[in-house]
Amino acid sequence: MTNSDAIGYYRDLFISHLTQNQTQKDPANLYAPITYILGLGGKRMRPVLTLMSCDLFGGNVNSALDAALAIEVFHNFSLVHDDIMDDAPLRRGKVTVHEKWDINTGILSGDAMLIQAYQCFERYPPEVFKQLTALFSKTAIEVCEGQQYDVDFETRDDVTIPEYLKMIAYKTAVLVAAAMKMGAIIAEASEKDMDAIYDFGLNLGIAFQLQDDYLDAFGDPKTFGKQIGGDIMENKKTFLYLKALELAPKEDREGLLHLYSIQSKDALIKIETVKNIFLESGAVDVAKQLIQDYTEKAFAQLEGLAISDKNKTNLKQFGENLMRRTV
Ligand code: IPE
Ligand code: MN
Ligand code: MN
Repeated sequence: MTNSDAIGYYRDLFISHLTQNQTQKDPANLYAPITYILGLGGKRMRPVLTLMSCDLFGGNVNSALDAALAIEVFHNFSLVHDDIMDDAPLRRGKVTVHEKWDINTGILSGDAMLIQAYQCFERYPPEVFKQLTALFSKTAIEVCEGQQYDVDFETRDDVTIPEYLKMIAYKTAVLVAAAMKMGAIIAEASEKDMDAIYDFGLNLGIAFQLQDDYLDAFGDPKTFGKQIGGDIMENKKTFLYLKALELAPKEDREGLLHLYSIQSKDALIKIETVKNIFLESGAVDVAKQLIQDYTEKAFAQLEGLAISDKNKTNLKQFGENLMRRTV
């Protein structure tokens, strides 16, 4: 199988499992938003990585489907709540749950999804169940910590780049890492391999979030599926912002500080002004280099892994495709 066939295979397998496990029962206002958000598609990157990881360590892919489902349901739960927190109108090119229904619906359907995610692990034998849920709980708490840092940073003016990197590691990368480690747990890989695949996922996840922040400002509104400039409107202290503060000449730096201290009424002007400073300061170039660096750091984890060269190449291609994405 070529790489894209393999990814398509895992994705199709996952989607049919997801479809079989959709619950359409009463009350409709609890379950319909869950079906809605999970049906919006998306790249299904995390569940694909769980299946891929299980497969490459010699496990039975089918036995990783429930863990992949747990990861995807949790991820979508976190998006429903995140979109409330970020006041986001669009997700995957469609209206967000709290806009289509209302905020309370988003909160409760999200809570139910978190519980459903845990239920997915009930189908595993006790020893595997224990390992998967322990990793899951640790990861979920870290995601909450990352989300809180992200919110706290909106109103702080002394956020450092290491703090930002820790924040994205927690809010995004640990779940990618855990998705891969779960595949390894189910395949009964060695501790060393489990740690290496976790670190691969962690570094890839950091690169992914840096890229996401770049696309949030510079992505194509037709393909990206989220409101372009959303982070700028919300005064998010992304890498681009922090780096631009470091690199931009005094006048631009002061302009940027001012724009990020207000809720601008004219969103379009603010977004355009900020994007220009990101570009002209060189922050965009530094961000692109950093994305590359984290991707390579991820690839370096593969060297010592007890998997075939073909599988290593597949993982690398997956990583490279992610970095070229427009969605
Ligand atoms: C979301 O981070 C992280 C979680 C949902 C835990 P962002 O707020 O940066 O992600 P997008 O841009 O809305 O997807
Ligand atoms: Mn957010
Ligand atoms: Mn968001």
